[in-house]
Amino acid sequence: MDLALVTDKILLIGEGNFSFARALAVRNPPSIEPSLQSLTSRNFTATAYDIEECYSKYAEAEEIVQYLRAAGAEVLFGVDATRLERVGALKGRKWDKIAWNFPRAGKGITDQDRNILSTQLLILGFLRSAAGFLAQGSIPNVLASKKKRKRVSDEGGNADEHDAFDSDREAQPKRRQSAGGY
Ligand SMILES: C[S@@+](CC[C@H](N)C(=O)[O-])C[C@H]1O[C@@H](n2cnc3c(N)ncnc32)[C@H](O)[C@@H]1O
Repeated sequence: MDLALVTDKILLIGEGNFSFARALAVRNPPSIEPSLQSLTSRNFTATAYDIEECYSKYAEAEEIVQYLRAAGAEVLFGVDATRLERVGALKGRKWDKIAWNFPRAGKGITDQDRNILSTQLLILGFLRSAAGFLAQGSIPNVLASKKKRKRVSDEGGNADEHDAFDSDREAQPKRRQSAGGY
């Protein structure tokens, strides 16, 4: 996941044992990326597809969920990534970042092609559903960087050097103005 702003609202989809959510919730040491240090647990919602099976599948999940809730995070079960609009607790809300790490249907399909297709459809369904829950904001600077890279290489310069320098310099003020949903 791209770096987050302190004010970002983050929705995590398809958590397994909720260890990624916990990693966001713990107070990170100064050696960790500074922008992640002050994320507060109240800013994120962690969800799992499983309901009862979650705790039997992942022995450590119950303890982690207790930790997250005590820290102020919202934890939801039975959230289908492809049907977020059907989840009452999510209705009418928006998030700046929506992330699903390692999306996988886990249907045990042995045929490789069918397995890939099933994952593609799952991700497509997720992206379609998640779009309605993203906050409006400025478009990530990546498009501007690509244009600049093309312009610099057309002019015969070193695109990578320019791009790294320019995107750093330009991205900061934009990101402070608005988080932008993606
Ligand atoms: C490979 S695991 C990754 C778990 C966790 N995100 C991680 O990074 O450790 C895939 C996860 O996707 C979940 N999943 C499968 N189908 C889903 C769906 N339709 N909606 C939400 N989650 C789903 C599974 O329950 C499982 O927890």
